[in-house]
Amino acid sequence: MKIIKYPTLPSTNTKAKELLLSGVREGVLLADKQTAGRGRLGRSFFSENGLFTSIILAPDKIPFAPSFLTSAVAVAVCRTLREMNFAISIKWVNDLYLEGKKVCGILTEAVMNGNEILGYVVGIGINLDGAKFPEELAEIATAIPFPCEKKEELLWNILQNLDIVLHESTDSLVGYLTENSVVLGKCVRFFGAKEGEGLALRLDALGGLVVKTAENEILTLTTGEISLRIKN
Ligand code: BTN
Repeated sequence: MKIIKYPTLPSTNTKAKELLLSGVREGVLLADKQTAGRGRLGRSFFSENGLFTSIILAPDKIPFAPSFLTSAVAVAVCRTLREMNFAISIKWVNDLYLEGKKVCGILTEAVMNGNEILGYVVGIGINLDGAKFPEELAEIATAIPFPCEKKEELLWNILQNLDIVLHESTDSLVGYLTENSVVLGKCVRFFGAKEGEGLALRLDALGGLVVKTAENEILTLTTGEISLRIKN
């Protein structure tokens, strides 16, 4: 796949969506810096000294339910970083952690024309060596000790692993997500469509997080967000 490089963009995901709407059906965007990097749930994403990329995928490239795409991408990025000997784990559903802090976020978005899905944009942001976080992020975010100048090499490895993942069974991917989860067996607080606290038990066949609440209710979270920090 062709990589289109930009020194600065507001957001590679926003640019990729524009390209999809103008008829582009595949490609990879890479920006040195984003001035308005976006995260899930309308949040911003700190975007200096890192790998900021968006991959455009046509609908026929996705062999599983689109809701599983973020999890599958998490497998591809986690494998890549673990192959480089970084002890990465996956925080359901779209974050990667190193030593208890976030190093990577994934934002997948579908681009529609009316009811027709034109394609998907897979946005990946990885903090790399030299990232200087603002005070409010320093406690929860960190960087992979890997030089930013070599980010293109990292991106090629991710693209290779993504290709493998897109030909792999969901069972195998869920197995990997389970083995490398930082969440399972822990108490979590969940937000979004359902809100509350519970014990993260397992992942279901489509990557949903199965949680047991204090009232012994079993819930499967399919969207939303969890936090590992439970306040007493
Ligand atoms: C999250 O942490 O909620 C997801 C963050 C995703 C950030 C990446 S950086 C490249 C791409 N462009 C964006 O604006 N966002 C994604």
